[in-house]
Amino acid sequence: MTEANTQPEVNIGLVGHVDHGKTTLVQALSGSWTDQHSEEMKRGISIRLGYADATFRRCPGVDEPECYTVDEECDDGSESEPIRTVSFVDAPGHETLMATMLSGASIMDGAVLVVSATEDVPQAQTEEHLMALDLIGIENIVIAQNKVDLVGRDRAVDNYEQIQEFVEGTVAEDAPIVPVSAQQEVNLDLLIDAIESEIPTPERDPGESARMYAARSFDINRPGASAEDLKGGVVGGSLVSGELSVGDGLEIRPGREVDEEGQTEWRPLETTVRSLQAGNRDVDTAHPGGLLGVGTGLDPSLTKGDALAGQVAGEPGTLPPTREEFEMTVDLLDRVVGKEDDESGESDIEEISTGEPLMLTVGTATTVGAVTSARDGECEVSLKRPVCAESGAQIAINRRVGARWRLIGVGTLA
Ligand code: GTP
Repeated sequence: MTEANTQPEVNIGLVGHVDHGKTTLVQALSGSWTDQHSEEMKRGISIRLGYADATFRRCPGVDEPECYTVDEECDDGSESEPIRTVSFVDAPGHETLMATMLSGASIMDGAVLVVSATEDVPQAQTEEHLMALDLIGIENIVIAQNKVDLVGRDRAVDNYEQIQEFVEGTVAEDAPIVPVSAQQEVNLDLLIDAIESEIPTPERDPGESARMYAARSFDINRPGASAEDLKGGVVGGSLVSGELSVGDGLEIRPGREVDEEGQTEWRPLETTVRSLQAGNRDVDTAHPGGLLGVGTGLDPSLTKGDALAGQVAGEPGTLPPTREEFEMTVDLLDRVVGKEDDESGESDIEEISTGEPLMLTVGTATTVGAVTSARDGECEVSLKRPVCAESGAQIAINRRVGARWRLIGVGTLA
């Protein structure tokens, strides 16, 4: 990697229970990171999914793992060498934000599960987030045992063993557990070492057609901007395959809802890429990894207020179909995870039944659907808001249990 090439190449989710230190850890690892994105972009993304790029570096002549750092200057005053720029997707740990976590998971190539050493394991969202990684098939995981500065040695060891026991039989069974203090910046070198070996940059084929999952969309114009100053709509999200360049044609699906003579239908949008922001700067060509801001020629009223969040963008004519209803095979969990003992609702997961509403996460899209038919291990749903998804896509299935939506299983689009 050269100094000039600091576009992030891999997305790493930060997941775990509320207050266990995800945001503090991202801050510690992203160092003096400053966001050059437009203010709207920056504010917008951090409200839902936090995003921060970090460049991992190595101090020459120093042994592993002590050589790893995010600082440009090494202890001996020499300059560190950049190894890789990664993008952290900071998923909210609060239980009501599970849908956001799930839509973030669709753009994660790996994840760091943050577990506080100060609490018993597992806390509700520690369990629920790990289950989500398991269901969605995110296998490259590192566990950060955080806040070790707040506990004595015995408690730290007990907690470490609890974590080991908890991950047994899950996708994180072999994940390294690295004791850290995000706040005191202790053992970050060990954590970087673990991330470097466990969460490689996925192999990508630049020849594949571009596919972007939109997480946000904006109108970046100030109120009252004159017609000639008006900028086209901006779509924020992550490329999951291919490359996107300024000047490329862009199709966005499902697009916009059109109402004609009482009949509504969804029509794809077509535009061109006018500008690209990636890795905190303007680029001519963007690659998968990190947050991408795409300036388009769309009327900004179409992108305002996240209107296109959850949609899929790519080369015209290459996108999967828009589906207002679909059939999926269903794999249910045995029991509801992440439920506090005093919460109401059943803990066992019953089969899906005809007529029940489900909340479904498909890519970055979250939609509600009614089950129109349910059989053993299969069901058909009719969606309130359509999604653009190909056959074989994974769907996180949530059911209302007690007062909130709970993750109950995973579906595969037929
Ligand atoms: P949500 O985003 O709301 O899910 O929380 P979070 O997991 O991002 O937690 P956050 O980073 O906001 O940290 C919660 C609190 O724990 C803050 O007051 C931090 O300062 C504190 N904290 C985080 N890491 C450490 C640590 O390593 N040691 C100590 N002593 N405090 C920490």
